[in-house]
Amino acid sequence: MAERIGQIARQLNYPKGLLYGQVAIITGSGQGIGAECARLFANEGAKVVVTDIDAKKTQEVVDTIRASGGKAIAVAGDMLDDNHIKELVKKAAEFGNGKIHIIVNNAGFTWDGVIHKMTDKQWDTILALHATVPFKLVREAAPYFRVKDGEPRNIINISSTSGLHGNAGQANYALAKAGVVGLTKTIAKEWGPQFGVRANTIAFGHIATRLTADKEAGAFIEVAGEKVALGIPSKQKKAQQANAGGVKYADIPLGRPGTATEAASAVLAIASPLSSYISGQTISVTGGRNI
Ligand SMILES: NC(=O)c1ccc[n+]([C@@H]2O[C@H](COP(=O)([O-])OP(=O)(O)OC[C@H]3O[C@@H](n4cnc5c(N)ncnc54)[C@H](O)[C@@H]3O)[C@@H](O)[C@H]2O)c1
Repeated sequence: MAERIGQIARQLNYPKGLLYGQVAIITGSGQGIGAECARLFANEGAKVVVTDIDAKKTQEVVDTIRASGGKAIAVAGDMLDDNHIKELVKKAAEFGNGKIHIIVNNAGFTWDGVIHKMTDKQWDTILALHATVPFKLVREAAPYFRVKDGEPRNIINISSTSGLHGNAGQANYALAKAGVVGLTKTIAKEWGPQFGVRANTIAFGHIATRLTADKEAGAFIEVAGEKVALGIPSKQKKAQQANAGGVKYADIPLGRPGTATEAASAVLAIASPLSSYISGQTISVTGGRNI
C-alpha cells in the first residue's frame, strides 16, 4: 500500500517523495512497526532518526536504509531515561540543520497482569513508557514544532485497541494507550492554530510482531534488572480460537493479523501531505476489529 501511495504521489506533486527533506524521529524503530516506519519514511525522502533500546538493531535498521540510498542516523537508548530524550532531540536537530518535522511515539512493550495481581512496578513502568515518555519527548522537541517556517509538522502517537476498548490483563497498558488519545488532541489544539502542527493517534489491533508472537518463543526485555517476557501465551490464543468455534481470528473482519508493513503504511499515510487536513483524530488500523 505505502509503495503504491508513493508511486501515485510521485506522479502527482511529490517527485522526490512524500516526506522529502523532513526529519523524523521514530521511537522503538529497531524492529517491528517502528523499523518499517523508518524504512517507508526513508523511501519517501525523510531523514530518519532511528532510536531503540536495542543498539545493535538500531544500527542494522540505519545500515539497511543507507544501503538503499536513504538517509538515517542511529541514536540508541532507553526512552525511560530523561537524558536519552534530551540527547535524541539534540542529535535529531543537528541532523536536520536545526529542524525536526515528525515524531512517531512508537516505542513500547506490554507487561500484562490481571488487576488484583498487578505490581506497582508493572503499572508505573508501562504508564511511564506509553504515556509519560511521549509527553516528555514532545515537550523536549517543542522548540522545533512551535515554529512558523511554512514547513509541515506532525506528531503521531501510537495507541492500541486495548486503549480504546480495554483488554483483560492489560489495565496498565489500556490506561496509557487511552491517555495518549487525550495527549494527542491537546497537542492538536495547542499547536495547531498558530503553528499548523498536526497531531494524530493511530490505534493498532493485532499486528504480527514480537509483541504478539508466541510467548514461548522466549523474547524478553529487561526493566531495571528484571526480565519481562514478551508475547502472548499460545494457550491464550488457542483458548480464544476454541471459544470462537475453532475459527482463527474470529474477531477480525479481515480474518488475519496485520503485517508491520501494513501498520507502518498507515503511519506514513497520516504523516504525509495527503493527510494535510487530518488532525486530532484517532485512526483504528485493525482489519475491522471492534467495529
Ligand atoms: N503489535 C501489535 O499488535 C500492536 C498493537 C497495538 C499497539 N501496538 C503498539 O505498537 C508499538 C510498536 O510495537 P511492535 O508491535 O512493533 O513491537 P516490537 O516489540 O516489535 O517493537 C517495539 C520496539 O520498541 C523498543 N522499546 C521497548 N521499550 C523501549 C524503551 N524503553 N526505549 C527504547 N525502545 C524501546 C523495543 O526494543 C522494540 O524494538 C508499541 O507502542 C505497541 O504498544 C502494537
